[in-house]
Amino acid sequence: MIRCDTNNLIFALHTVHTSYIMGVDAKGRLLHMYYGPLYESDPLAPPAPVYDPGTLPDRLPQEWPCPGLGDNHAPFFQPEFASGVVAADLRFAAAETVPGKYTLPGLPAFRTTGAPGAETLRITLKDAAGLTVTLLYGVLPGSDMITRAAVVENSGDAPLVLRGVPTAVLDFPQESFPALDLITFDGAWGAEFTPCRAPLRPGVQGVGSVGGIPTHAHDPFVVLCDPGATETAGACWGAALVYSGNYRIQAERTPLGARLSLGIEPFRFAWTLKPGERFTTPEAAFVYSADGLAAMSHRFHRAIRRHLLPARWADLTAPRPVLLNSWEACYFDFDEAKLLRLAAAAKTAGCDLFVLDDGWFKGRDSDTTSLGDWVADTRKLPGGVAGLCQKINSLGLAFGIWVEPEAVSPDSDLYRAHPDWALHIPGRETLAIRHQYTLDFSRAEVRENIWRQLTDLLDSCPVRYLKWDMNRTLANVYSAALPAARQGEVYHRYVLGVYDLQQKLTDRYPDLLLENCSSGGARFDCGMLFYGPQIWLSDKTDALDRLMIQYGASFCYPPCVMGAHFSTVPNHATGRTASVEARMAAALSGTFGFELDLTAYTAAELEALRPFVQFYRDHGALLRTGNVYRLLPPDGAGAAWAIAAADGSEAVVFAAGRVLNGRRLPLPFAQPGSRYAVCAAYTGGARPGAWQPEPAAGARLRVQGLHLPAVPGDMPGYIAWLKETDAE
Ligand code: DGJ
Repeated sequence: MIRCDTNNLIFALHTVHTSYIMGVDAKGRLLHMYYGPLYESDPLAPPAPVYDPGTLPDRLPQEWPCPGLGDNHAPFFQPEFASGVVAADLRFAAAETVPGKYTLPGLPAFRTTGAPGAETLRITLKDAAGLTVTLLYGVLPGSDMITRAAVVENSGDAPLVLRGVPTAVLDFPQESFPALDLITFDGAWGAEFTPCRAPLRPGVQGVGSVGGIPTHAHDPFVVLCDPGATETAGACWGAALVYSGNYRIQAERTPLGARLSLGIEPFRFAWTLKPGERFTTPEAAFVYSADGLAAMSHRFHRAIRRHLLPARWADLTAPRPVLLNSWEACYFDFDEAKLLRLAAAAKTAGCDLFVLDDGWFKGRDSDTTSLGDWVADTRKLPGGVAGLCQKINSLGLAFGIWVEPEAVSPDSDLYRAHPDWALHIPGRETLAIRHQYTLDFSRAEVRENIWRQLTDLLDSCPVRYLKWDMNRTLANVYSAALPAARQGEVYHRYVLGVYDLQQKLTDRYPDLLLENCSSGGARFDCGMLFYGPQIWLSDKTDALDRLMIQYGASFCYPPCVMGAHFSTVPNHATGRTASVEARMAAALSGTFGFELDLTAYTAAELEALRPFVQFYRDHGALLRTGNVYRLLPPDGAGAAWAIAAADGSEAVVFAAGRVLNGRRLPLPFAQPGSRYAVCAAYTGGARPGAWQPEPAAGARLRVQGLHLPAVPGDMPGYIAWLKETDAE
């Protein structure tokens, strides 16, 4: 609910559990007042410091701080007027409330869909020198989410250049929060999403990217929290940028307390606005929890599942197919006969869908060639993609395929025909990464060519799933189609181009399951989830390493968006051998699938996989929509976690590694007054088909804990389904 006190100019955004309050000071500056537990004062009264008009701008929590007028913290907003002035004096002009949540043209944003009571507050700030900034605040009450974006308009009569534009700035006044921790999610290829938590220091800290995609190094999601915050207690603020390009999220201690800023990275950003033109920023999404990190994650998960994913795949609407992906089974080395044997084995294991990964198109026998030429290699597929698809379908499997639309190989017909379509700086050597260049997706004619190739492919046969990969960062970023003065627009125009093509795809093929990927998780962000409901989380399929990657990702993202596959042992990347149960535990905690050569399995081994597939089918709704509990964080040797129904009536508990040592695992979601049937399978024990229920009291599970068996070996696994049976 949005409440506006138009006399005192106080604006309050209320969700079920939280409030976000702003006010306008005597000079017309829009100040942040409060973001915390639901604030229910009636009539609205400022809950937090009232600033006297003499307060230094440096000590004012401004919702949209401007440089050059006394706010001396790390500047983000940098409007450069034709006069050379880089300063803005934005004063409150108007506010209006609109039912439903705003949308952003050409950009991903949380949706109104499935969000009763969603509203928008628009606050307009004006600088008499010819600048208007409209701040957009979205309220998704049931998910306890507040979103922000801004529209910057040149309301003057000469061009101006935006050299930096934040999406949102949020101050944390010191009075209430003496010190905060900053948690970021960092890593590298195959090691994405390692949480890094440290007290906020004076000076600017943060994460970002200048690689054109978020990259493996940092995710565009951070948490600020009380230093003592745990999974179950303490104040936490989560902030996600809904954007898939260069970004900056920075935090700093200030004389006031702390400041968090999010937006497009200012490096190589310069956007010209002619008189009357507007620039719309990407969106940021915020969640506050007074009850620790688990509740913060649950709110993000709910909002992502219900209001961010394409409606076709939102929440409970559609089960995800169990797939087998050909990559780790074949890499580039296959022919049609091999693929059909693999598909037949996948069918025996219980899969729904077969995905042909990289290597299927003209001349693609290694990663050195052919990207951009999206027609089948008839040496490998004599009947083309349509011929293979038809044979896969007749095995009773749906068909999916891999593409990398943004890439072009120097050795390709597309590049030979259009060398200027690759991003390159004239006169400089173009950097190839993984032997490939990047197409200039800021150009409509380039996208049009790829669009035609993709639609030819998707129209040629019933393709039910598309894996859209992107295997490099951007470099040599310069567009042959833009004048020198507008080269600072290329990075952002590139991202808009990717969004444009994915939007067209999902409009034209609403039932197509789009899975994004970027060498694993280099572009794993809320922006991409607007178009495709799942993203391949990491190329690291080793179960032990996956525990950390999935653990870190779970702070923001729900399991139903994390591509997770059961792969072979020894693992191709690490050489480690994990038990079937540990690998299953990791894969069942995401969008379950297989990624191994199942033709090497005996009939009995394939048969033994079926109960796990059946388990995913039986409990898929719970696994997709339940709340994640991080019970024992990964410590390099193991971890335990659970996915539980919001009312605690059922759950799946997972454990892997050396935590299986006979310990007890308290289950915070267990209802004290209930009894549960516990059905467990673990290494050396019964397989899921033969599980024996054991009764357990909710109070006991909650406090003393579930008894985890002691299982020998480095990487055993444990999966248990708990169901409330009756009251005690
Ligand atoms: C990187 C992806 O992360 C892998 O899953 C696979 O699709 C390869 N690219 C194919 O080149």
